[in-house]
Amino acid sequence: MCGIVGYIGARDCTEVLMDGLEKLEYRGYDSAGIAVFENDIIKTVKTRGKLEEMQKKLQTEGKPTGHCGIGHTRWATHGEPSDINSHPHSNGRVTIVHNGIIENYIQLKEFLTEKGYVFTSQTDSEVVACLLDYYYAERDPLRAIIETVKELEGSYALGIIFRDFPDRVYATRKESPLIVGIGQGEYFIGSDIPAFLKYTKNYVLLGDDEIVCMNGQDISYFDVHGLPVEKEVSVAEWDVEQAQKCGYPHYMLKEIHEQPEVVRKMLNSAVKDGVPDFSEIGLTDDFMRDVKRIFVVACGTAMYAGMVGRYAIERLARVPVTVEVASEFRYMNPIVGEGDLVIVVSQSGETADTKASLELSKALGAKTLAIVNVKYSAIARGADMFIHTPAGPEIAVASTKAYTVQITALYLIAFRIAFARGTIDEEELKRLTAQLGNAPKAIKDIINNKDECQFIASQLVNAENLFFIGRGFDYALSLEGSLKLKEITYIHSEAYAAGELKHGTISLIEDKIPVITVATQSEVLAKTISNMEEVKSRGAFIIAICRRGTVFSPESVDIRLELDTVLEDMLIPLPTAAALQLIAYYTSVLRGIDPDKPRNLAKSVTTE
Ligand code: F6R
Repeated sequence: MCGIVGYIGARDCTEVLMDGLEKLEYRGYDSAGIAVFENDIIKTVKTRGKLEEMQKKLQTEGKPTGHCGIGHTRWATHGEPSDINSHPHSNGRVTIVHNGIIENYIQLKEFLTEKGYVFTSQTDSEVVACLLDYYYAERDPLRAIIETVKELEGSYALGIIFRDFPDRVYATRKESPLIVGIGQGEYFIGSDIPAFLKYTKNYVLLGDDEIVCMNGQDISYFDVHGLPVEKEVSVAEWDVEQAQKCGYPHYMLKEIHEQPEVVRKMLNSAVKDGVPDFSEIGLTDDFMRDVKRIFVVACGTAMYAGMVGRYAIERLARVPVTVEVASEFRYMNPIVGEGDLVIVVSQSGETADTKASLELSKALGAKTLAIVNVKYSAIARGADMFIHTPAGPEIAVASTKAYTVQITALYLIAFRIAFARGTIDEEELKRLTAQLGNAPKAIKDIINNKDECQFIASQLVNAENLFFIGRGFDYALSLEGSLKLKEITYIHSEAYAAGELKHGTISLIEDKIPVITVATQSEVLAKTISNMEEVKSRGAFIIAICRRGTVFSPESVDIRLELDTVLEDMLIPLPTAAALQLIAYYTSVLRGIDPDKPRNLAKSVTTE
């Protein structure tokens, strides 16, 4: 969603801000803007559209030259994407950029209108600029911010500059990410570390309602009462290459290729002496032995990773697992409490519904475990226990490597819970863990075989509709494969449990409609094949993803993608996922779409 940047230092501020905004493009946006002090005057340039539009506008309107400013990419929520609704917003003496949603903006707008403020945009954000101006009566920026945030309901990350202080950037946040970058005599703010990683790896996390004031020489932090706060400086583990394309045409392709390595990293970080061990984070055998029920709560791809986890945990450990969509879970008055474990899964660690579900589960007395890729995120910090998925920065909007690492983490948890509960013995625990050690190679083999995925993509490129079917683990993979494909190709796609299709949806099967059949699970293979034949006999074009050597009746399959792997069935989702990601990726490229930036989507969904 929206991206915020800010800078004060000796460099060309416009360049730093534009560079930072480019690094945050992955979050999704539909307009952009910057405000920079030029000779003590704030110069604002903003536009609807992508950063290329901004660059053009900077050329025609003149590039602000200065050393202090703020910038923004907006993902429209209140008001259409337009020049006027783009940030920064100014009113009176204050200019701001805002990420999040001000839930009481209508009441605030009424109040401010009575006070004589006139609004030009349809955004909720403009009220923040006005309110700051209103409370700036004594020309004390810190006081104005403190009084303003007291009145705001909802979530916000704010970058703020005051007309009277051309050498300061202020920022504050609540429930929206905002990170401070600490350079040598220069300071940055960003919605994520890549925004300033090129200049510094040192960063500070702002807590809810903490305020930072940075000038060229100094930086100070305050709490909501205006009292000074000491903050710890951390060092980012990411390097610049990880946040760049490194010769790949798209981040998505690069991230697909990184999967063998990051799955290996996950194994290295959680496996000790040949078995998964989570005791360091408090996920002990004693706890796992007694847990009554497990809930996996997440959104989108992370939720589909949870489905794979569910099949693995239930199969091995015989504990009931429920997978819930976070946006439903939080409002369903869930029957969750003491003795239950709620696992929240999230790449960004900022997803609003997942975060709210975590908070609700804690309040209801459940133990919570976060499986999160961004260490410094709110979800990672908010859970009782935290497993870091070391996938590194995932820049492409469509999640790939984070998903496979989430699955890897869930397998390891499944193995350990099963051992703790005595449903498998130590020998089996070691054997399964060693088997999982073969996953990086299995994924690599698929990636090396990408021509076959490219060929399948060439057969899908003109499709208007298609289906995925599968059973068990293959059903979970079908859901993810279908989501991946639709989000980056814009082809309408649906995934069905293979046995469910004939209960209505089979009426949509017509001549040549592609049906991708995921058929890797030997226990249900015969059943899946008969479902595949049902659609084939109604004219479907069948693409089967299966183990090498799977026997189908002649002419029941049009194309097959065969997986050569020693992995046992339960673990085969890892290479299968890579195959489905590559099919989606190449179909997107063949359709002339930028897979890294699919329309209407945001990488980090910080609103409900
Ligand atoms: C799809 C995708 C989304 C995310 C979902 C949750 O490719 O990326 O469905 O999985 O928005 O995001 P996180 O994992 O950041 O909570």
